[in-house]
Amino acid sequence: MSVRDRLAEISAIGRDNVRGGYSRHLLEPAEVALRSWFGSSAEALGLSVEVDGNGNLWAWWGESRQGAVATGSHLDSVPGGGAFDGPLGVVSALEAVAILKAEGWRPTRPIAVCAFAEEEGSRFGMPCLGSRLMVGEIAPEHALARVDRTGVTLEEAWRQAGLEVSTIGPDPDRLAGIDMFLELHVEQGLDLEDRDLPLAVGSAIMAHGRWRLSIVGEGNHAGTTPMQGRRDPVVALSSAALAVREIALERPAARGTIGRISVTPNGTNVIASRVDAWLDIRAHSDSEVRAQLDATVALIEKRVGAEGCALQVHEESFSPLVLFDEPLTARIAGLLGGVPAIPTGAGHDAGVLSAYVPAAMIFVRNPTGVSHAPEETAREEDCEAGAQGLAAVLRDLTGGASR
Ligand code: GLV
Ligand code: MN
Ligand code: MN
Repeated sequence: MSVRDRLAEISAIGRDNVRGGYSRHLLEPAEVALRSWFGSSAEALGLSVEVDGNGNLWAWWGESRQGAVATGSHLDSVPGGGAFDGPLGVVSALEAVAILKAEGWRPTRPIAVCAFAEEEGSRFGMPCLGSRLMVGEIAPEHALARVDRTGVTLEEAWRQAGLEVSTIGPDPDRLAGIDMFLELHVEQGLDLEDRDLPLAVGSAIMAHGRWRLSIVGEGNHAGTTPMQGRRDPVVALSSAALAVREIALERPAARGTIGRISVTPNGTNVIASRVDAWLDIRAHSDSEVRAQLDATVALIEKRVGAEGCALQVHEESFSPLVLFDEPLTARIAGLLGGVPAIPTGAGHDAGVLSAYVPAAMIFVRNPTGVSHAPEETAREEDCEAGAQGLAAVLRDLTGGASR
């Protein structure tokens, strides 16, 4: 097979005919279909497949569960996302194993191909849910109580999928068995296209976080309520969105985004009573993110107050700055022919794991530079080079001998 063939196998799963692209959310039918595809693809390679207590998928080459080199990514997507963010890393890991098996490689330590649950946080709002539960960064009861957009709790979704609720939480034994983690990922920018290079390694992930802003006003009739004296949270949100941009623009390389909004009750002829908006802030250090948040919230509070509305801010997640393991990254860059190390503004499970085990990333060029949108893409030859590169890295790190 090839990376292209493997991606083709899942290309019809989870297409979003309304938004375009793919919507593959944790334990919804499309994501469940991808889980089952993962199982059969891995089994076809002779790997033994298991679901861990946090809904993450593992496919093992080798009997031992100690000293493993793990590689993979995630299968879920953002709403209306691209075909590559997540699946490319999983597919490339499977393909790299296929390459090594075809040449008769005998790894001297186990290789695990994995797919982490809900990396995007698109259903339950917690990015890197599966990896953060595994390492113990999210309290199980906190995760289980999360609610999706239709009111289903994570606990209910878990039970409906036939998963065991009592196993959710830290998994120190599994973590202790992993010596290194590698995540191959489509690049989410134009750095490699600009450099005319197919591959790079990751150097860092910007610090980032998500906050829910709840703006409460007064619901009323759109026709009978004079313009004066309204307390319209949609108007307050408009000025809040401008505040997010103004503050981010004042700070070098900072990012501030409101990409998700929920209006209550959401009627054309109704002045809304409440708006919830999700704020995503990213910067080059944890303290810069915090300072940007403080400045943003202060300005939003002023503007929301001027509209007669009230503001509540709730932190949903915070992901500290990640600096990937330098020796491992340098070793991989060398194995890939001396490719550059580039930073990213996108969060990854590799970033979570990097606080516990040496972790590294390989980026594959994206000609559009677009991600989290249907236009996300990667050239076929670059994807194949990525899988070959990952195979070379696994060969090096598992120190086996060809037959
Ligand atoms: C995940 O892709 C993120 O960066 O939010
Ligand atoms: Mn993503
Ligand atoms: Mn991703």
